Amino acid sequence: MGKITIAIDGFSSTGKSTIAKQLAKLLGYVYVDTGAMYRAVTLYAMQKGYIGNENEEEKIDELIADLSNITLKFVYNDTLGFSEMYLNGENVEKEIRALPVSKLVSRVATLEEVRKKLVAMQQEMGKDKGLVMDGRDIGTVVFPDAEFKVFMTASPETRAFRRYKELLDKGEKVTYDEVLKNVRYRDYTDSNREFSPLKKADSAIEFDNSDMGLKEQLERIYNFALRKIEETKA
Ligand code: DC
Repeated sequence: MGKITIAIDGFSSTGKSTIAKQLAKLLGYVYVDTGAMYRAVTLYAMQKGYIGNENEEEKIDELIADLSNITLKFVYNDTLGFSEMYLNGENVEKEIRALPVSKLVSRVATLEEVRKKLVAMQQEMGKDKGLVMDGRDIGTVVFPDAEFKVFMTASPETRAFRRYKELLDKGEKVTYDEVLKNVRYRDYTDSNREFSPLKKADSAIEFDNSDMGLKEQLERIYNFALRKIEETKA
């Protein structure tokens, strides 16, 4: 069967990665979580003191000058059944999902130089097709020619509640209001940034999953994908 490129974009905590991961498994495709890449760069910037401190503005230039020293790698974990993010050789999967990184990542994702570096890496990963990539600009910037594009939405409250439960399950001490505030803040910065703002690609199907279970979402998107693969062969 011919392979296609599948782009899944949308707001934060819409369940993009859960769907993308399972879809990739069903199709035997590679899955790439581009949010993890922006999160890892953010963690690096925090570790080096470039952001999240009082002289924040002054240090962005230093972060940009240091970008070439950042190596990102996805390493497949057989036991877990998914890939984990390694930053300069170290597994940072847990740190990049925690709230301190979530609070700063949108800011790092506004930087043109960061986006250029990560988009080039993503295009290289997808050059042979047969992949499902999720993010914010996959269908618009990274793979504008992707054969199948999905744009996922859900209300901010639904998304904040999902995220809140996830973080509690991981043992983090957060409040629902704090998570909702972060979701709203990221929606705003992701949608209004100058470079590659989050927006639905013209050819993307919009998917509001506020009231839809995972099984139904996956079934629908999988069937769409199969149709696209068939069409591409014809
Ligand atoms: O999908 P996520 O919540 O893990 O993404 C984290 C942040 O990274 C999000 O607030 C916006 C940014 N991002 C982006 O700008 N472009 C992408 N392709 C993926 C993520």
